[in-house]
Amino acid sequence: MTLLDGKKISDQIKDEIAAEVAGMIRRGEKVPHLAAVIVGSDGASLTYVGSKVRACQRIGFESTLKQLPESTTEEELLEVVAELNADSDIDGYIVQLPLPRHIDEQKILLAVNPDKDVDGFHPTNFGKMALELESFISATPYGIMELLRRYNVETSGKHAVVIGRSNIVGRPISILLSQKGEGANATVTLVHSRTRNLPEITRQADIIVSALGVPNFLKSDMVKEGVVVVDVGITRVPDASRERGYYICGDVDFEGVSKKASFITPVPGGVGPMTIAMLLKNTLLARQRHRTRT
Ligand code: GUN
Repeated sequence: MTLLDGKKISDQIKDEIAAEVAGMIRRGEKVPHLAAVIVGSDGASLTYVGSKVRACQRIGFESTLKQLPESTTEEELLEVVAELNADSDIDGYIVQLPLPRHIDEQKILLAVNPDKDVDGFHPTNFGKMALELESFISATPYGIMELLRRYNVETSGKHAVVIGRSNIVGRPISILLSQKGEGANATVTLVHSRTRNLPEITRQADIIVSALGVPNFLKSDMVKEGVVVVDVGITRVPDASRERGYYICGDVDFEGVSKKASFITPVPGGVGPMTIAMLLKNTLLARQRHRTRT
């Protein structure tokens, strides 16, 4: 069994980006600038956004954090989005999800300038991704593809089963894995809450990507020998015995499944750090594309 070490690979990617930034500084060019907007004070979201901003600082990007109160109205958030669209110093930005219930998420995502949409959530980018045109690919599916590529995991002709059909992970990763080209060409099955006989399907999988958010959902009797497993789950499970009051649990029963897997991601230290690295990669791309447009 080989561990798909997202921490190690994400560090390599960040080093590669940092080297690009050093070159930009040497040439007297503007460095990439990422902005992040967060509405409210959800603990997990604050942690994720904090990690993204710190990662920017470590590799030499500029970063701006816009922290807005829970009471922010949809109109006010749309105004912030319009300001970020108009600010030529900002190359890319993200609006951290989920948003408070009184704000229409789709309305906000539609207002983001697709050229600055480093999350790849705008329909223009999602559509271009699906059509294999130049776009921003969402950081989590992009990170999974990159992790598989860097470990030379064979995907061509393999049966990949994706668990979960979210717009952020399940749906886009199912599209990417089925595309033509190196590191893809898989035969993909997308399973979800209405799927019948799910374990029967996962037992046929050469590759499983689980993006469900149910702790320890995938058990060893649901996979075959030699399976490649990518665990996207990062559920906070309450645990009074820990200082933080919780622990992070993936979708996969690592203890059991790792005994049968040929490759498997740990949680934490698998997909999570890759997501941050690919967001930085998208921000670098946004800067480079921005420069060629202006
Ligand atoms: N919430 C969970 N994952 C993400 C992500 O990748 N980007 C944003 N903006 N919000 C998220």
